[in-house]
Amino acid sequence: MNHMDRQIRVAILGCGTIGSELATFIDSDECQQAQVSALYDLDQSRSISLRNKLLSNPRVTESIEEILLDADVSLVIEAAGPDAIQSYSKDIVLAGKHLMVMSVGGLLHGDIYAELDSIASESGSQIFVPSGAVGGIDAIKACRDQLDVVILTTKKHPDTILDISVGNIKKDSDRKYPREIFYGTALDAVKRFPFNINVAATISLAGIGPIRTMVKIVADPQVSGNVHEIYASGSSGIMRFTMENIPHPENPRTSYMAILAAIETMKHSSGRGIRIGT
Ligand SMILES: NC(=O)c1ccc[n+]([C@@H]2O[C@H](COP(=O)([O-])OP(=O)(O)OC[C@H]3O[C@@H](n4cnc5c(N)ncnc54)[C@H](O)[C@@H]3O)[C@@H](O)[C@H]2O)c1
Repeated sequence: MNHMDRQIRVAILGCGTIGSELATFIDSDECQQAQVSALYDLDQSRSISLRNKLLSNPRVTESIEEILLDADVSLVIEAAGPDAIQSYSKDIVLAGKHLMVMSVGGLLHGDIYAELDSIASESGSQIFVPSGAVGGIDAIKACRDQLDVVILTTKKHPDTILDISVGNIKKDSDRKYPREIFYGTALDAVKRFPFNINVAATISLAGIGPIRTMVKIVADPQVSGNVHEIYASGSSGIMRFTMENIPHPENPRTSYMAILAAIETMKHSSGRGIRIGT
């Protein structure tokens, strides 16, 4: 199918690792229903470099406002960071566009989640939050009212952890590993580790909320990739999920799994056909 015949026009907000991978998927023959029509990144050289790799020749915009005013764009994929959620998400949904959120931690700040939900109900927009780098979201969502305990334990190489209260956590030869560097609520976890722990936000939004969902972060130089273990229990039973994810070669904080999950969400975003899973 010619790119111009594809129905859904997509804008990519943030042309880094995830934005580029998703744009490349949409541009491919595998995705028949959408085309990338606009790109925005604070660093315009990234938008330009991505545009040069795509067949659909999308417009490189200089501001998010250009995307908001583009009536052809129906879906904005955010792959920029939690600040972008704060700054742009409400305007995107107010403009009647659908939104896919990758920086899920940004949804836990202030009242933004409730506000977006209310604006989307008014504007008819859908907001997609892919399950990201973890499995089990469908099960947690299905029995959220029966759950008493949800604990996420994330193990990462210390060099890939960015704690904004202290900066990059480098492997320190004077310390013993594995080392627990955080235990607290999902809400506090996303505030301190905004680029590492989006999965905590996703699990908490699917389940028992960001204050009751507990998160443990372990720095471990021996783990290869990003390991996420979920334990959930309640009157419906006990669940344990473990993911050992391969990091993306260009950004070791991002699991390749998160990109695959977003592609799967993208495939079903038009809401047609058979949908497997909750
Ligand atoms: N949901 C999940 O499971 C999951 C998994 C991995 C990463 N993430 C999150 O997805 C987001 C993107 O990850 P990535 O690996 O592609 O990061 P990346 O650093 O490779 O790319 C981010 C891009 O966004 C741009 N950017 C940053 N702030 C911006 C803004 N306000 N407006 C416009 N552009 C902006 C940057 O210049 C960069 O090009 C991050 O927030 C990351 O934490 C989510």
